[in-house]
Amino acid sequence: MRARGVAGGTHTDGVIAEAQAVPAMSAPPRQAAGSFRCVRLPFAAKNFISPPSATWYKIPSISIYNRAAGAPWGLGRIIAIANQKGGVGKTTTAVNLAASLAVMEKKTLLVDLDPQANATSGVGGVPGGEAGKDVYRALLGEIPATEAIRETGMPFLHLLPASGDLIGAEIELVSLSGRENRLADALRTIEAGYEVILIDCPPSLGLLTVNALCAARSVLIPLQCEYYALEGLTSLYRTIGKIREMLNPVLAVEGVVLTMFDARNNLSHQVVSEARENLKGQVYQTVIPRNVRLSESPSFGKPALLYSVNSRGAQSYLELAKEMVSRWNESPTR
Ligand SMILES: Nc1ncnc2c1ncn2[C@@H]1O[C@H](COP(=O)(O)OP(=O)(O)O)[C@@H](O)[C@H]1O
Ligand SMILES: [Mg+2]
Repeated sequence: MRARGVAGGTHTDGVIAEAQAVPAMSAPPRQAAGSFRCVRLPFAAKNFISPPSATWYKIPSISIYNRAAGAPWGLGRIIAIANQKGGVGKTTTAVNLAASLAVMEKKTLLVDLDPQANATSGVGGVPGGEAGKDVYRALLGEIPATEAIRETGMPFLHLLPASGDLIGAEIELVSLSGRENRLADALRTIEAGYEVILIDCPPSLGLLTVNALCAARSVLIPLQCEYYALEGLTSLYRTIGKIREMLNPVLAVEGVVLTMFDARNNLSHQVVSEARENLKGQVYQTVIPRNVRLSESPSFGKPALLYSVNSRGAQSYLELAKEMVSRWNESPTR
């Protein structure tokens, strides 16, 4: 379906995926019981700035709770924090949400799956782990994940660190058996020890992110309040749909968190209302403001909660954690 143009204007068409009729848990993952269709929709920045109609951004009708799949939430929650765009706040969200959940006394594991290892250093960890024991070697099966896990400055927060070696993993994993499920296999041995596992993904939809989406039960999507905010969601949702269809039928969308909101900027307000309009039910009430403490704290190797507890940044991630937990409590089978 080709969407109508804006009042005579031209625009580039984007492709949006709609995953429907999620396969039941009992169905073997590779037997795609669900349908997966693509709808062509317009994505032009100028339309976004002055949208003729909010319905233009019919972002995914992918069911967010994935109830049909009956995700086994009795086990710990494994949440991939993903968006193939760089600089949208994935790592900041991973670190500060993990710290907030830990403060709420949820046993939390932060898995750093980005070769930049910013989540690792963001909680005071050593990129590469100690004695080279990191998520990379766990992915390759050289060590059990449990050997790579490190404590942090917070009693309820553990870290599975990354290193620059992960850059090679995208290529090295290709030739290995079960390449998409390497992280899932590694986490299976440790997940019972945690209530929440957060996976910080790299800024791509390559094999590392695919591993995160196969290991996770849901995806948390940070969306930066800026010009092209919604545009990249097309391919992200399409990837989520395909992973759900082919590899991980329980994968759900945990929610969308708006980041770097600047109240003085009209565009920020427009992004918030557009996102709420088009991602109905998925966007958290809590919006993360642009806050200098959030950008400063990583250089001290601390989450904002330990660096500046009263900052708006730290407090907003605490709010987000509370909102997530209350969503879980309202719907425990999710
Ligand atoms: N809410 C925020 N306020 C201010 N700076 C932020 C905020 N969120 C992220 N940043 C900064 O923006 C940059 C990109 O954020 P990051 O979390 O690393 O994004 P990603 O992991 O998606 O690439 C970093 O320098 C980070 O400190
Ligand atoms: Mg990052």
